[in-house]
Amino acid sequence: MTRHFLRDDDLSPAEQREVLARAVRMKRDRWAERPLEGPKTVAVIFDKSSTRTRVSFHVGISDMGGSPLIISTASSQLGGKETAADTARVLERQVAAIVWRTYAQAGLEEMAATTTVPVVNALSDDFHPCQLLADLLTMQEHKGRLAGLRVAFIGDGRSNMGQSYLLACATAGMHVRLASPPEHVPEPAVVADAQRIAAETGGSAEVVLHASEAVADADVVVTDTWVSMGKEEEKAERVATFGDFKVDQALMDQAKPDAVFMHCLPADRGFEVAADVIDGPQSIIWDEAENRLHAQKALLAWLLEQADA
Ligand code: CP
Ligand code: NVA
Repeated sequence: MTRHFLRDDDLSPAEQREVLARAVRMKRDRWAERPLEGPKTVAVIFDKSSTRTRVSFHVGISDMGGSPLIISTASSQLGGKETAADTARVLERQVAAIVWRTYAQAGLEEMAATTTVPVVNALSDDFHPCQLLADLLTMQEHKGRLAGLRVAFIGDGRSNMGQSYLLACATAGMHVRLASPPEHVPEPAVVADAQRIAAETGGSAEVVLHASEAVADADVVVTDTWVSMGKEEEKAERVATFGDFKVDQALMDQAKPDAVFMHCLPADRGFEVAADVIDGPQSIIWDEAENRLHAQKALLAWLLEQADA
């Protein structure tokens, strides 16, 4: 059966553990598995800019013996001239999987509903699930476990990262507390989904309105840009609104003494995070960025196996 990865909870808790365990093995022995030998091609489509996602999918697909086909939407027929459904019907005859960074989650759902090959969300306005697999892998490396860890997400709760943090951490049995201004809290349906999953995994998911409340006792403190791609026109209003949601050393000091700091990057130093935090000893952002490669390789290998089964 074709499986897709459009949001974090498309993997069950057991499946998430399986993909992460595979990522650990693939990181240890980078060229051991070649499920894309042929080479099979994977299409990686970008409606928005990218550095890490573009590089890690390109390198990861190559590492596994495959051929990455990186498509910039601006130079393709997708978007203005052709629907996601028609594009998918054309691609599935020639590629093993479709990875897509786009705006609306609905476009990904339309593509997944149409095609016989796995569709992977490489960031939408609502979720960034590939980033969360990398983030979980990184936390596991630094803390030795996931279940039971306390995670604080500070900033734009309605963003792709905020919403993915709720779902992915709940799936991993973690305690996630998200702090954002009232105008930018996550969608209630996403919070409800995270709380339903957490009730099954022994974790918890909570939205609070003060950063200090979120970081108390946290093992991991996370933030992301206040101005996600597509929100550039709101920049001035957002900078004014998010002023109390900056991660600086004083806030880090309210978390556990051995807390780590994470950020998916790109970062705006001096806005959502102080330079001495992101560039300081608690920051694990470079491991986090590298782990995009290993986590996505494991995900692609796993998805292709489900399709073959
Ligand atoms: N974190 C992340 O997805 O980075 P890019 O936008 O550079 O791909
Ligand atoms: N929330 C950010 C993530 C970038 C990787 C954005 O959507 O721009």
